Amino acid sequence: MSQRVARLLHITDTHLHASPAGRMRGVRTDETMRAVLARAMGNGDRPDAILLTGDLVQDETRGGYERLHELLSGHDMPVYCLPGNHDAPATMCEVLAEPPFQVGGDVQLGNWSLILLNSHRAGEDAGLLSPAELDRTAGILNSGHSSHYLICVHHQVLPMGSRWLDGVGLRNGEELVDIIDRSNKVRGVVWGHVHQASDRRRQDVRYLSSPSTCLQFLPNSDDFAVDNRPPGFRWLDLYANGRIDSDVVWLEPEA
Ligand SMILES: [Fe+2]
Repeated sequence: MSQRVARLLHITDTHLHASPAGRMRGVRTDETMRAVLARAMGNGDRPDAILLTGDLVQDETRGGYERLHELLSGHDMPVYCLPGNHDAPATMCEVLAEPPFQVGGDVQLGNWSLILLNSHRAGEDAGLLSPAELDRTAGILNSGHSSHYLICVHHQVLPMGSRWLDGVGLRNGEELVDIIDRSNKVRGVVWGHVHQASDRRRQDVRYLSSPSTCLQFLPNSDDFAVDNRPPGFRWLDLYANGRIDSDVVWLEPEA
């Protein structure tokens, strides 16, 4: 049995507002995020760090990021963040400038590294990785610094099979996949944006999407549709031999 290097709590698309009463399509996002945190942190096997893959704040307010800060700074663990299409990256970097928060960059965890990518494009729902961001990724992978890498980004790197969602995906996802294919050290790629769970393998790399902490989108739908699944989150357990164990937890209403 290989040794576990890190247990990550992956939460995404929290869509918080300045007001705790703020809603996304009727869902009180502050309340659902608190419920997700209570469930995840109430588990005996606590995470070593929290990973947030964008759409942290819905209304692009400073108050929304301050709310996020308040919700996450008291857990005595690092919080790694990157922006989504709904975020205001400059405000996000200002409010989350100090530990335990880290916005973007990369993170070394034992013989693993996380690469936190920025696919935000001002005024657009779709994402794009700049040439600098692609070069940075290739440079980190070529450095040989770690044995295993997890790439984290907001927009879906592979199509989800949903026409409307794939119209607002990562426009140059193929360029990132080319870089991943040329490396033999990427073990996983994880994203938010799609508000649904998926788990695929391509050339021995795990490609994962995670549910939102608020509301979900209906998988395989041509047009926008809300799914009736509850809030959710994902566990990511990273092992020294490169293995990833992962589970999605849904906050099913009590019967
Ligand atoms: Fe979102």
